[in-house]
Amino acid sequence: MLRVESWNKSFGSNHVLRDISVTIGTGETVTIIGASGSGKSTFLRTLNYLETPDTGVLYIGPDLQHLSIYEGGMLDKNKVVELRRHTAMVFQSFNLFRNKTALGNVTEALTVVRRMKKDEAEEIAVRCLNQVGMGDRMYYYPHMLSGGQQQRVSIARALALSPEVILFDEPTSALDPEMVGEVLNVIRGISHKNSTLIIVTHEMKFAREVSDRVMFFGDGTICEAAPPDELFEHPQHEKTQQFLRSVLNH
Ligand SMILES: Nc1ncnc2c1ncn2[C@@H]1O[C@H](COP(=O)(O)OP(=O)(O)OP(=O)(O)O)[C@@H](O)[C@H]1O
Ligand SMILES: [Mg+2]
Repeated sequence: MLRVESWNKSFGSNHVLRDISVTIGTGETVTIIGASGSGKSTFLRTLNYLETPDTGVLYIGPDLQHLSIYEGGMLDKNKVVELRRHTAMVFQSFNLFRNKTALGNVTEALTVVRRMKKDEAEEIAVRCLNQVGMGDRMYYYPHMLSGGQQQRVSIARALALSPEVILFDEPTSALDPEMVGEVLNVIRGISHKNSTLIIVTHEMKFAREVSDRVMFFGDGTICEAAPPDELFEHPQHEKTQQFLRSVLNH
């Protein structure tokens, strides 16, 4: 479970996130859609403090542990470390270590982030690579893998950490079209299991099918949030209607 209250972020005079408050349930799959520049990535990045929000409170975990208050005071580094133990991020550009195999990439996340012993880490890494259909390419280096395969390794790396929340920022938009499906299938396969998934995507069909809730971002806020059938069939907000008209006509 994750909850933010009064979440704000500006870059100079550009007020990108405007007082967002939202709760996302354990095991829920939420997709975030919206126009380019509407703050989707910024929102995701502030949720694990890759960007620091200007103000706001974040609670995370089954008991909604209070993890950060940031009201112009100093950010507590220990709390950021603690927060990151609960989250993992999957990037558009995979962000794998080039000099490590698929297995090495996943294992390293566990030995470094979780301080796990190598044997134990490898056992988990193998299981997660199998889960994303990469068990037969464990010893390949990133340059020997397709974009879709690299993205599946990066999803295995996130899964290995057993995070409370996995954050995906456009996980398929750097892929050739023929590789989008395999990555979306892997995400479908892990949804509604242990982790909460928050996915920024431009794939409307996928959003409609995988989400418990779709959030439409506009003007720095969540303009509208609803189950996919409602949001796509009966968008209430004019901005949502405009956005859907423009993307669905494409
Ligand atoms: N590090 C930064 N420094 C300054 N401005 C930034 C920074 N990151 C984002 N912005 C600005 O914040 C706004 C929101 O950007 P963001 O990347 O969150 O949008 P987005 O919804 O993810 O867009 P897209 O769909 O194109 O990925 C934009 O106006 C952008 O220029
Ligand atoms: Mg973005």
